Amino acid sequence: MELKSKSGDPVRQRTACLVVGVYERRRLSDAARAVDAASDGYLSRLLRRGDLQGQVGQTLLLPEVPGVRADRVLLVGFGRERELGERSYRKAVAEAARALDSAGAGEAMLYLAELPVRGRDLAWRVASAAETLETALYRFDAFKSDPQPPRRRRPLRHATLAVPRRADLRRAQPAVTLGQAAGRGANLARDLGNTPANVCTPAYLGEQAEALAGRLDAVEAEVLGPEAIAEQGMAALRAVADGAEAPPRLVVLRYRGADAAQPPLALVGKGITFDSGGISIKPAEGMDEMKYDMAGAAAVLGTVQAAAEAGLALNLVAVVPAAENMPDGRATRPGDIIGSRDGQRIEVLNTDAEGRLVLADALSYARDLQPAEVIDMATLTGAAIIGLGHHRHAVMGNAPGLLRDLLQAGDRAGDPGWELPLDEAYDEQLRSPFADVANIGGRPAGTITAGCFLQRFAHGLRWVHLDIAGTAWQSGERKGATGRPVPLLTHFLAGRAGWSP
Ligand code: BES
Ligand code: MN
Ligand code: ZN
Repeated sequence: MELKSKSGDPVRQRTACLVVGVYERRRLSDAARAVDAASDGYLSRLLRRGDLQGQVGQTLLLPEVPGVRADRVLLVGFGRERELGERSYRKAVAEAARALDSAGAGEAMLYLAELPVRGRDLAWRVASAAETLETALYRFDAFKSDPQPPRRRRPLRHATLAVPRRADLRRAQPAVTLGQAAGRGANLARDLGNTPANVCTPAYLGEQAEALAGRLDAVEAEVLGPEAIAEQGMAALRAVADGAEAPPRLVVLRYRGADAAQPPLALVGKGITFDSGGISIKPAEGMDEMKYDMAGAAAVLGTVQAAAEAGLALNLVAVVPAAENMPDGRATRPGDIIGSRDGQRIEVLNTDAEGRLVLADALSYARDLQPAEVIDMATLTGAAIIGLGHHRHAVMGNAPGLLRDLLQAGDRAGDPGWELPLDEAYDEQLRSPFADVANIGGRPAGTITAGCFLQRFAHGLRWVHLDIAGTAWQSGERKGATGRPVPLLTHFLAGRAGWSP
């Protein structure tokens, strides 16, 4: 979508559709009041008659409103004015996008950045609206044989976010850029996640990284195949891939947004393109959703794209260990002891705890690039869903400042996490009688013991781990990848690049 920001009187705008907010109890936003005055009280009469109550996300499309230059006016409900919060704001903007898309207006000017969202400033309202406009109309129909069923004559292609004053544009323009980059990055992650595992293989992830590097000037890709992985001593990544026909990849993406002397920030994403569990095979029910076990990798690619499109002034290196976890005569067995690039020997008690194995080698690879900070993200444990459900990522790490900044970026981005502890007492659950460490720590605190395992391979790094098992996709009727935590990371990186929030 083409997005921009502009200031100006709503009744004087020549646009296919003017979008204005109304509240419950017949209250009008500033822009709605201007339209009401220009149309001799038309909006007030509609509200008095009860044609729209103003609940969050309600919409009413009005063609040919007298006194305004726009072809149409879309009224959007934002609930009670005093109670307008972040979730309601995003929900109402999303409903506005859907109504605009089905109205066939093609283009619109939205007076929504002026609304008083509790505790949030203009830049937040602009960035959130931009991101929501970009993500609300997402669909994944690449695998339908008729990919474009009766498509609207004019889908929503251009949107202008109005700001109250000309002077606001200085802050609004970068906010549009950031929100749009986050939304587009999330959509890329959703596409990769939704692509089935017979197409989205480790090799495919490598090709997608190369395609990204081809599209974006400041991005370069390097893809290591099985031989290079062996040469690197990545025995843990290999042990996971051994049971699969599909050969593994180690995908490395670099974004150069700052001077080469500046140490990069490292992003590491779990890229298990299908997780059957291996010899410790999973139950059949819902196993299709294990195509999403590369959601960490998808988020890393989406975030690199977002950073590059926003032109953030920092350097990034992304590392994606990609493999398929399958049962086979060559597969790793429970009880096998394997090596790792770091040198630690791992007793694999459960082949379904494979994510931490591939991440161990990726963290070791990342260390050699001397990053300032490392953030890994992974659909690592079912226990994260038990602990935090589908709303917050589980967040763990060894660097308090990095943890704080990531959690704060998540709150701001509407993509929140919650910190879990990594006490030594949990780590002791990983003791192995035969090797240096076991790959599981038993039932209690499964998300934390997985974090403890990773921490052993993150020695000497300023490191945070995001367990996104509960947040990366939705099940049921609205099944699909969410694109999280791309918004969190985009806002975090913007902060690291010196954009004031
Ligand atoms: N990819 C799964 C985690 C997962 C399961 C995410 C269900 C989302 C939904 C991971 O590889 C896994 O299988 N973890 C095991 C670890 C256990 C064997 C210690 C789990 O959570 O059951
Ligand atoms: Mn698994
Ligand atoms: Zn897995």
